Amino acid sequence: MESPLTIIIFGITSNLAKIKLIPALFDIFDKELLSPETRIIGVARSPKTSLELKSYLTNTLELKDKNTHGSTFKKLTQSFSYLDGHVDDPNFYLKLKSFLKNNKTPSRKIFYLAISPDLYQDVFENLKQSGLSSQDENFTRLMIEKPIGSSLATAKKLNNLLNKYFNEDQVFRLDHYLGKETLQNILAFRFGNEIFEQLLTPEHIDHIQITAAEDFGITDRGSYYDSTGALKDVGQNHILQLLTAICMDAPKEFSNQEITKKRVEVLNKLVANSSKLVLGQYHGYLKEPNVSKDSKTNTFFALKTTINLPRLSGIPIYIRSGKNLKSSYVEITVVFKVPDNRLFKQFSHGQTANLLIFRIQPDESISLRILTKKPGHIYQLEQNSLQLSYQDKKSDLTDPYERLLFDAIRGDQTFFNDAAEVEAAWKFIDRLTQSKTKLHLYKKGSWGPKESDDLIQKDGRIWINNA
Ligand code: BG6
Repeated sequence: MESPLTIIIFGITSNLAKIKLIPALFDIFDKELLSPETRIIGVARSPKTSLELKSYLTNTLELKDKNTHGSTFKKLTQSFSYLDGHVDDPNFYLKLKSFLKNNKTPSRKIFYLAISPDLYQDVFENLKQSGLSSQDENFTRLMIEKPIGSSLATAKKLNNLLNKYFNEDQVFRLDHYLGKETLQNILAFRFGNEIFEQLLTPEHIDHIQITAAEDFGITDRGSYYDSTGALKDVGQNHILQLLTAICMDAPKEFSNQEITKKRVEVLNKLVANSSKLVLGQYHGYLKEPNVSKDSKTNTFFALKTTINLPRLSGIPIYIRSGKNLKSSYVEITVVFKVPDNRLFKQFSHGQTANLLIFRIQPDESISLRILTKKPGHIYQLEQNSLQLSYQDKKSDLTDPYERLLFDAIRGDQTFFNDAAEVEAAWKFIDRLTQSKTKLHLYKKGSWGPKESDDLIQKDGRIWINNA
């Protein structure tokens, strides 16, 4: 069990806090990972009485099917306090300081910013000036989420600001994909089992595909999404994290420095080719609330890239992601070459490639698609899978926010981005979008615009739709 600390959440009434952070804290309390003296302070603008806080927590957790009648809820609410204030007002920090002092809260602190990035600068400055960001033998950490900037220049600006007010080991830049069990397992699969790793080379791999499809639109996030688009909303971060997991070279050791170094290496060696970028927008997007009537924002992208690293040199990587597609799933597929001398080349299925599929979600699994003999007198082939399914381990699939929050509490930055990583990802996206790319409309419920199929078919390949 971790020693007591104080977690201060700026923006406790935000969507992020409601949907992710409060349920994650509930689960951490449920697993008794934190000392009962841990204190949580929720901050938002309007005043709330303790009764109102309790009913807010009850409603929030009930929406996530958490039990609000048991001992976990009781412990959580006993640890929780609420403080109203404007986080861009220096006086608020004096109020927060005396609150911490008067309540003798534990000195180890985490500030979680579940607020608009427009407020970051004010918050960083005020935390510094009030002395709240300083640390002695007791740590003070800061957790922030994407978007970390909207281009290389703005990300650099934000990172410089962070560097001015905090040490890098205090800053936890969270990308929740790095906290997904199935993504983390790619490292164990690759580097814990030498048998597969030696096949992940240009000699054996024909190409790699990454699909992150969603069968729903932008919900009520029009104003955020319209200024972002799919490529920056999930491409710059989550999808590049999937790509680094499958492509990075083996780290020298299992440590934050070495793993991060290998991820950054991949990002720095990614080849950006804007002629191999397809952008799409679903029909009806312009009618979404808070979307500009002549918006040119992409809700879909597909691209082809390669990595200039000797081990992967020349392997084409095709990526696509979008909203309002035919189904929702996230998958990485490694498509192996069919050797010329395959014994069964003339058989039906004889030309079918072996596939290694990492199913990130849903129906989480890792499977190896192979050919086997179809039982019977006649010698025939059929496709089968050797599969690790998480089906009976479902309850062990820790929510990424729970995991990452707990990692930050333990001070483990392995599955967080440092400044260099965020900037390397933006460099790729900036280069890709340097020249203007045409926007193609696509039907809701399709696999995106036809140009996405053309992109891969021109190379004699097809998207694998594993809905
Ligand atoms: C968020 C994006 O970061 O990730 C959303 O802003 C996207 O647009 C979401 O839907 C996807 O996350 P997950 O975990 O549901 O695949």
